[in-house]
Amino acid sequence: MKSLQDQIQEVIAACDAALISTHTQADLEKTKADFIGRSGRMVDLMAQLKTLSLEEKQQFGPLLNGLKQQLQEKFTAKEAEFAKKTLEREQQKLQSFDVTAYKPGKIQGSLHIYTQLIAELEDIFMSMGFEVVDGPELETDYYNFQALNIPETHPARDMHDTFWVSSPGMLLRTHTSNVQAHVMQTHTLPLAVFAPGRCYRNEATDATHDFMFTQGECVVIDKNISMGNLLATAKTFLQRLFGKTDLEIRVRPGYFPFVEPGVEIDASCPFCKNGCSFCKKTGWIELLGSGLIHPNVLRANGINPDEYRGFAFGFGIERLAMIKYGINDIRLFRSGKIRFLNQF
Ligand code: PHE
Repeated sequence: MKSLQDQIQEVIAACDAALISTHTQADLEKTKADFIGRSGRMVDLMAQLKTLSLEEKQQFGPLLNGLKQQLQEKFTAKEAEFAKKTLEREQQKLQSFDVTAYKPGKIQGSLHIYTQLIAELEDIFMSMGFEVVDGPELETDYYNFQALNIPETHPARDMHDTFWVSSPGMLLRTHTSNVQAHVMQTHTLPLAVFAPGRCYRNEATDATHDFMFTQGECVVIDKNISMGNLLATAKTFLQRLFGKTDLEIRVRPGYFPFVEPGVEIDASCPFCKNGCSFCKKTGWIELLGSGLIHPNVLRANGINPDEYRGFAFGFGIERLAMIKYGINDIRLFRSGKIRFLNQF
């Protein structure tokens, strides 16, 4: 049998050889186990110590302890070498890291443009003292037409391509003016309400028409309401919406059976002074349908037209947004196209 001294030398040489071909942390763990692990070569040598005489034990005991320490140091050195290499690699990576490189982020959701617009409109009208109300989208012929001075035979019905539903006398509201009669019946006077919401028209779609769209309706009823109140309110609203204090309005006659007189209100083009593509070179943009509430409408809803008067105006919310944000197709609003929606 080889002397213990020889075996010690052999173990040192074997450990050096093993470490030369140790390149990963996992390799190193294995080499460590082979030499100083529970069933490693060091344990074998220690076991042999038991068989020696007392003198030999005194001689080899310290030698084996020294060996163990020597092996431990070799492994520690190797570990330090690995750590240094890892650090160098990290630093190398940092050096070649491009802080300007594009990092794809998570897709972020946002409120739909409708939600944002309606909130903005509500803010404006609430700050002017209006109450925000909601009206039914599934409506009766009475509220959508008859109560608004549009009896069954009235030709104005032709302008509202109506979606009738299978229940008799029921329809999808064609305008938010349906809230007029509702609020006259539910509210005490005086009243000032703003009602935004969806409307439906049974017509072919194109870049400026959709079968479902949203309108906003303002109704004010009080004792001495005049055309002046209507125009001042409309002008203040449009100035706030477009953020332009020098925005002007102009009025043209317009026909709606539920107002008398009926007027179309145009705003001076918010984008130009002398005509651009938005205002079709006219300098004016048609925005609101409006008028003083017809006495027949007040009367039909239990209000005495000799005592109270009112004004109403209505507008297409998409149309306002298309002008404000330069959107060229109304169908984009409901398209669900991420590239459109992400812009708001
Ligand atoms: N409801 C009308 C439309 O849809 C607009 C309008 C509202 C006109 C209020 C006058 C008064 O065209």
